[in-house]
Amino acid sequence: MLKVVVMVSGGGTNLQAVIDSVKNQTITNTQIVGVISNNKNAYALKRAEENGIPSECISPKNYETREIFNEKLLQAVKAYEPDLIVLAGFLVVIPPAMIGEYKNRMINIHPSLIPSFCGTGYYGLKVHEAALARGVKVVGATVHFVDEGTDTGPIILQKAVEVLQGDTPETLQKRVMEQAEWKILPRAIDLIANGKVTVEGNKTVILP
Ligand code: GRF
Repeated sequence: MLKVVVMVSGGGTNLQAVIDSVKNQTITNTQIVGVISNNKNAYALKRAEENGIPSECISPKNYETREIFNEKLLQAVKAYEPDLIVLAGFLVVIPPAMIGEYKNRMINIHPSLIPSFCGTGYYGLKVHEAALARGVKVVGATVHFVDEGTDTGPIILQKAVEVLQGDTPETLQKRVMEQAEWKILPRAIDLIANGKVTVEGNKTVILP
């Protein structure tokens, strides 16, 4: 059984997609053992509570220094003894020690087709604003392992989504979530839970 901790900051629709997929067996061999948010008002915490999943808020605001926060965050994560950490809209910079500790065991969902519209400053609506400003016709989402860089780790899954005439950042964000994020994040977890993902250098190999 793959023990998963999901880290969130906001609405938690990706968390919900994972919860639903575990429930309806689209994801097998997996248990969500904890949800951690840096934002005490995140609706994602409510989703965890409603589904009987242990959850907590660990905010940098509650600690004197970033170092102390980083330590507390890592301690909190470790307490769940997870096999996999899922960053589902987690907006805090991951402590370097945590990246080292969970190498190839931490994944992130990013709302673009990496390497487009990713890296520092590309999060939330900004990604979709940039895509519309550039006039691309296809966007999408990516699930990747987390390494020391921003959105640079080995790519696990990607899914493309069409840009439509008249799209706003909001309509595009919604379509990317519905058609890509909520599908590939659960799929990636299921693949990992069933031993289908291996990492070779900066690439993954997905076994049939
Ligand atoms: C998603 O767009 C995700 O790709 C990004 O942050 C957003 C989180 O949304 N990293 P939600 O909290 O899962 O609804």
